[in-house]
Amino acid sequence: MLGMAMSTMSRARLERRLARCFSSATSATGKLSVLCFLGTTRNDGPPFPTRVGSRVAAYSASLLKKHGHAVEVVDPLELDLPLLRKPEFAYQRGEQPKVLSELAEAIRSADAFVMISPEYNHTASPALLNTLNHFGSSIFSYKPSAICTYSQGQWGGARAAVALRPILSELGCLPVSAMIHVPAAHTVFDEHGSLIKEESDWEQYFMRTFSQMEWWAMAAKNHKVLQDPFSLSPALKRQPSQRNAPK
Ligand SMILES: Cc1cc2nc3c(=O)[nH]c(=O)nc-3n(C[C@H](O)[C@H](O)[C@H](O)COP(=O)(O)O)c2cc1C
Repeated sequence: MLGMAMSTMSRARLERRLARCFSSATSATGKLSVLCFLGTTRNDGPPFPTRVGSRVAAYSASLLKKHGHAVEVVDPLELDLPLLRKPEFAYQRGEQPKVLSELAEAIRSADAFVMISPEYNHTASPALLNTLNHFGSSIFSYKPSAICTYSQGQWGGARAAVALRPILSELGCLPVSAMIHVPAAHTVFDEHGSLIKEESDWEQYFMRTFSQMEWWAMAAKNHKVLQDPFSLSPALKRQPSQRNAPK
């Protein structure tokens, strides 16, 4: 009897939490807060004096906004972070440089990430990795990411994309299976991020990846109301050896 009463109570509690959770979703897909990390600081040519990546970022942001999401682009040229000296998490709380504490807060409050990288020497861009390396995985984790690579060549940065997968997995923002690769990106988008050929299939192609990201982000956001992921797998805050298998 006691067991039955308790299971009835916990079901009622679960139903209340689920009701709260679903009323907090703004629609079937919901509005998400998405951070797009841009991976280029190149600011001179030839052949292009302006970055091709800013075109890809502008197009990505406009598509996500069109689908109701709040979007910020993290631009390493504006951030102007040095090559990593000291990551944000290594500072005493309250003593982090403003640029790092503000970006940490933006990462913490985001629901999903889009990683936009050129391919440099067959791998992901150092500017993107340098930005990511300034932050610990706990503020990225339990949120999905989407990989979007581009190049002026014919492979669209596919090798950079493959290199990004393990990095994003380590950060805990698992990349969705569909990826975006834009070959000859300078011929696809103009300098404002608009499609050069409007009647093309690029929107559908980008949205296949973004829709996967959206689905996982909503699922994660809703489930966090029911279960704090860090209560099951706390962030590792002391030594890298905390990750080690037992001896
Ligand atoms: C250092 C460097 C390495 C590059 N390596 C590659 C490469 O491996 N594969 C490729 O397709 N394009 C490569 N490119 C050409 C880029 O696709 C092209 O410069 C592109 O515009 C870079 O993006 P961005 O303009 O946003 O910086 C490379 C360019 C640079 C500057």
